[in-house]
Amino acid sequence: MSRPKISIIGAGNVGATTAHWCAAAELGDIVLLDIPQVGDMPKGKALDLMQASPIMGFDSRIIGTNDYADTAGSSVVVITAGIARKPGMSRDDLLGTNAKIVGSVAEQIKATSPEAVLIVVSNPLDAMVQRVQKVSGFPHKRVIGQAGVLDTARYRTFLAMELGVSVEDITALLMGGHGDTMVPMPSCTSVGGIPVTRLIDPKRLEEIVDRTRKGGAEIVGLLKTGSAYYAPAAATTQMVEAIIKDKKRLIPVAAWCDKEYGVGGYYVGVPAILGAGGVERIIELDLEPQERADFKKSIDAVKELVAAMDGLAL
Ligand code: APR
Repeated sequence: MSRPKISIIGAGNVGATTAHWCAAAELGDIVLLDIPQVGDMPKGKALDLMQASPIMGFDSRIIGTNDYADTAGSSVVVITAGIARKPGMSRDDLLGTNAKIVGSVAEQIKATSPEAVLIVVSNPLDAMVQRVQKVSGFPHKRVIGQAGVLDTARYRTFLAMELGVSVEDITALLMGGHGDTMVPMPSCTSVGGIPVTRLIDPKRLEEIVDRTRKGGAEIVGLLKTGSAYYAPAAATTQMVEAIIKDKKRLIPVAAWCDKEYGVGGYYVGVPAILGAGGVERIIELDLEPQERADFKKSIDAVKELVAAMDGLAL
């Protein structure tokens, strides 16, 4: 029996780091693809990573390429292709450029890996995942956006730092779009089983949520030459693992919601069960009034983003 094939489109920071984490976790064989203009760069990164395998102790065949034929028959395709944010740029500034890029990627994948589950990472996320689904024509449950795992991980990190406890003891949930309107869910956040609201006062909690909302921009401001990639790649790897191993993880992802939460046909961050079929079920929570209001605001922001994209000549 051969190993599952995981193709990663875009061999930049997020793509190459995702390859690294996926290989280290022995999730499958990996194909790292980038455009011909970057030459042999993906081959170089793949070979370098392969040469780490005897030391780190993982068995994975990793190849770099500029040719979609090498990605044929992938079980999972991760799309990180695009341009990354520079200081002062919002995720939305990337809209037109990245919509064209992910659209062209979706066309190629449709032809070469028609059965794959697609995980979209390129920003602005909620619009890009919608674009990939539309161009690929894949069932909605097989096209998923990576945002919630990352946002929640940032939130969990900040909460652990605040309380001086292990990150492992913090479970949390954030919903909505991947942007400044993401919705914290204090009622679904706990520390070793204790509701977070019993450990941190509301004002301080709001400050931590605010830092989480701006978590991506904070990194952009520090790096100056690009955007975050370790945590985005780790979050993506968790989703790849859930699909490849059919783990039925209950994690927040950008999933297609129609009747769910009354969204009406958009990709937004919601808790969902992720397994071999992609999004196998969306968990519908009875939201509290504030959460409901914040979630609506977040959906409105996603709708605006998608309308702006639909207004572009793509
Ligand atoms: N097909 C394949 N790869 C492409 C294409 C394309 N049509 N267009 C661009 N790329 C490649 C670039 O050549 C580059 O190697 O995508 C890669 C992007 O890598 P980086 O510039 O390092 O960006 P990265 O930090 O990896 O972010 C990628 O993920 O988190 C998001 O906002 C981020 O949208 C950005 C994406």
